[in-house]
Amino acid sequence: MLRGALLGLAGSSRARQLAVAAPVTRQLVERFVAGETVDDAVRAAAALVSDGLVVSVDRLGEDVADPTAAAATVTGYLDLLAALDRAGIAGAVEVSCKLSALGAALPDGPARALDLAGQIADAAADVGTTMTVDMEDHTTTDVVLGTVMALRERHSSVGAVLQAALRRTPADAQRLATAGSRVRLCKGAYDEPGTVAHTSAAEVDKAYVRVLRTLINGPGYPMVATHDPRLLAIAAALATTAGRSADSIEYQMLYGVRPAEQRRLAAQGRRVRVYLPYGTDWWRYLLRRLGERPANLALLGRALTSRD
Ligand code: FDA
Repeated sequence: MLRGALLGLAGSSRARQLAVAAPVTRQLVERFVAGETVDDAVRAAAALVSDGLVVSVDRLGEDVADPTAAAATVTGYLDLLAALDRAGIAGAVEVSCKLSALGAALPDGPARALDLAGQIADAAADVGTTMTVDMEDHTTTDVVLGTVMALRERHSSVGAVLQAALRRTPADAQRLATAGSRVRLCKGAYDEPGTVAHTSAAEVDKAYVRVLRTLINGPGYPMVATHDPRLLAIAAALATTAGRSADSIEYQMLYGVRPAEQRRLAAQGRRVRVYLPYGTDWWRYLLRRLGERPANLALLGRALTSRD
């Protein structure tokens, strides 16, 4: 319920205005977001790489309102990829992108988003890296997975994302668990109805383990995206039982969440990728992070009521 209310706030321009103006919001944003510019993103990514981590950079922005904004998303990613290349870290840094930032919800959206995502995937391949297409709410799942499959015809390394919360996910995982297929498994960050999703945390965790088994025992490349210590331990045990080498699976966490654990796992020889967002459009991303961690809510409350 709390998560639903927070995600509702995401659409409120008044709440956004109040929060953006408050100094305490800045501290909260800085914890989860690299900064506003490409230079900020490259600087933060380089620091993570020098700590032995790999990275996926997300240019913040979603649900663009017109084709011009969708085209601007592509330009932003091309600038980012060029800067990562100049910094000499593109091999360790992929990009993550949301199709709604490429106009997937506009008229003729899916075709436009596929074309624009293809431009990003081409540019990523040119500098020696790849992209993963983030998953958004359940109404978009078919379009997102269809787009990933189409992109893979040209670039087989393009990553897909599955959300354990969705009831359809075990079937999607069976389809995606093919040789070389890069699949990020997360719990799911959206407030979904019980008709399509598990709504209790225990059910989501059980579903997560079930899909983990499919991905880890299959021939693909699982990307275990969670901060949950129990699920991380189960993933490591399943990987050992399946005889997976350290470079045939990766663990993924968000920038600013359990950073010490990220470094501890990397020091053990595991491949750990940090999801690193940057940009000015951080409001909805921030609210999703707050919804996952009610302890952070007191800070948002101060931001919304502060007169500083
Ligand atoms: P859970 O929320 O149960 O958290 C486990 C523990 O981790 C908590 O007890 C706490 O210690 C810590 N923690 C988790 N979130 C925190 C936070 N925000 N602040 C502080 N501590 C926190 N979702 C989606 O729908 N589509 C997508 O494409 C992606 N992509 C993605 C990439 C990567 C790399 C990650 C890690 C996650 C995503 N997600 C996502 C988000 C995902 O669906 C989920 O909402 C969050 O990861 C939180 O779930 P956990 O698995 O961490 O478990």
